[in-house]
Amino acid sequence: MSRIVFLNGSFLPIEEAKVPFMDRGFLFGDGIYEGIAVLGGHLVDNEAHLERLERSLREVRIPNPYTREEWTQLEEELARRNGLTEGFIYFQVTRGVAERDFMFPENTTPTVAMFTQAKSIVNSPAAETGIAVITVPDLRWKRRDIKSINLLAQVLAKQAAKEAGAQEAWMVEDGFVTEGGSSSGFIVTKEGRIVARPLSNAILPGITRQSLLALSKEAGIELEERPFTVEEACDAAEAFLTSASNFVLPIVSIDGRPIGNGKPGPVTKKLRAIYIRMATAQRMAAE
Ligand code: PDD
Repeated sequence: MSRIVFLNGSFLPIEEAKVPFMDRGFLFGDGIYEGIAVLGGHLVDNEAHLERLERSLREVRIPNPYTREEWTQLEEELARRNGLTEGFIYFQVTRGVAERDFMFPENTTPTVAMFTQAKSIVNSPAAETGIAVITVPDLRWKRRDIKSINLLAQVLAKQAAKEAGAQEAWMVEDGFVTEGGSSSGFIVTKEGRIVARPLSNAILPGITRQSLLALSKEAGIELEERPFTVEEACDAAEAFLTSASNFVLPIVSIDGRPIGNGKPGPVTKKLRAIYIRMATAQRMAAE
């Protein structure tokens, strides 16, 4: 089956999907994106992702081309056409195509591109072993709450992680961890409390983070919403990350220093199980 993508109103084989040279996403990184997990053929936390999409578009003043219902139909149709049962749907909206000039062009239609990636999220080997992270300076701009397609700092951070034999980079500013290159970062104290950096312009409001914190509260796990340092993270009982493409993943070392006993911890395992149960329940409710 050939891979089908969505571009500006049409479902097309990927080879036929072409974006014009003067697209502002290509020239300026002038666009925003979203990424949503698919489990059992159904979208996980779709409403919250679409809410964040609407907010990102509003903040950068790109008109939203679709209603929430239309976005949902497009996502579902794309998953169906690609036979996607488990994986990720990516979509981005750029300000459109115009002669290169910094100011907003007039009468330009936003470019909408969407594709899917198959991936085993629930039975991920990394969930069993845990992953290594390194820390790097956070080189990003001051509006990290917007899911911008400008990801150069994250590209460099994650490449540095790969070259160090790690799977994620934690970005650090003023001694405090902001977040991962493509994930939200957490630690668990020796007393079993989750520590999460509060939402602000310094981090992306992770949708998996939001759901997980609500679920952990229901499960009676206490939360300290405050920034934490790299030193505190290295001393913590556990560390983990969340993202739409990984749900909850244990972190077993930071800059080569083992966290706890160097194995995925019990609180992280429990949170992962709770999150998967919730995502599976959403799927059953949709069927
Ligand atoms: N990244 N922080 C950053 C910088 C991210 O890029 C992401 C997601 C997250 C987690 O957000 P969510 O739980 O809504 O996925 C936090 C996606 C998965 C990506 O770029 O592939």
